[in-house]
Amino acid sequence: MNESTGLTGMPKLVNLMGSEVNKMKWKILKVLRESGDYVSGQVLSKELGISRVSIWKHIRSLKEDDYVIETSARGYRLISSPDLLFPCEFPGWEQKIHHFWQTNSTMDVAKALAKKGAEGGTIVIAESQTHGRGRLGRGWFSPKGGIYLTLILKPEISPAYAPRINLMASIAVARAIRNLFGLKAELKWPNDVLIKGKKVCGILAEMEAETDVVNFVNVGIGINANTSVSQYEKRATSLKEELGKEVSRKEFLNSVLKEINRQQVLLTKGDLLEEWRDLSATLGRDVRIVAPGGEIIGQAIDIDTNGALILKADDGSLNTAIAGDCIHLS
Ligand code: BTN
Repeated sequence: MNESTGLTGMPKLVNLMGSEVNKMKWKILKVLRESGDYVSGQVLSKELGISRVSIWKHIRSLKEDDYVIETSARGYRLISSPDLLFPCEFPGWEQKIHHFWQTNSTMDVAKALAKKGAEGGTIVIAESQTHGRGRLGRGWFSPKGGIYLTLILKPEISPAYAPRINLMASIAVARAIRNLFGLKAELKWPNDVLIKGKKVCGILAEMEAETDVVNFVNVGIGINANTSVSQYEKRATSLKEELGKEVSRKEFLNSVLKEINRQQVLLTKGDLLEEWRDLSATLGRDVRIVAPGGEIIGQAIDIDTNGALILKADDGSLNTAIAGDCIHLS
């Protein structure tokens, strides 16, 4: 079994819908957390409908995951929790999160789930990835300490609007960084999040659609949270590097998910584009867009309703870039 067991690889679909063992661990955590005091083995056993021996085994397993749980004659008391992205750390989302210690790529898992009919709002999270995927066929270095997730969305929008979902995700991450850490996170078209010009988060979207219906859009978000910057190329940074200390990944991801909830209702509204413009580090600059079809140079003057970048060339002519790598020249 792969889910939250520490084994690597593409999980079999049968394992994707959640491990009962882990679900029970998370239920125990919830009870302990809500109580804030000792809870006896007997009460836990009665409340969760399993034997006291099973409760003890789950507690032992939680301790192995670095949860500090005091055991006394009065029962069990939660003292502290590690910074793991277990579903129970995300109130309101618990039922929709699939957590992996390690997987190839959350994109692959999410795709399999979406094709199997997973509902919109399902999230796949991994503590690390062995084959993290980036834009334009690149890899995404995914060691422990980062945040790697793919969100399955089933929005009722036209496929032409789908790139807005990338904008939405990048806005959510930038706003969470600003709100929680006071860092001036900005957006580089199409959907990188930068701090002081260096990339802290990348977003990758994969869509399955028919002529005018979106079946699903999977949005992959990779955030350099508590990873060392020396592991990256010089144009990248991490939250830890910028703040000089580790961040609570679970607190941060909670904040990102709240922002995504807020932004989702804006998907079909102009306000989303306005928010992107406000956070943009690209607009107003001279840029070079390198796309598979060629290269465009010009001043970035705006984005259109589908998230494409509008460039003004020296001769005043306008060009639109739908995809590609954006290099800031000024
Ligand atoms: C980019 O190239 O800027 C996009 C990087 C996207 C990385 C994330 S990490 C979670 C999800 N799983 C992947 O394999 N890729 C995305």
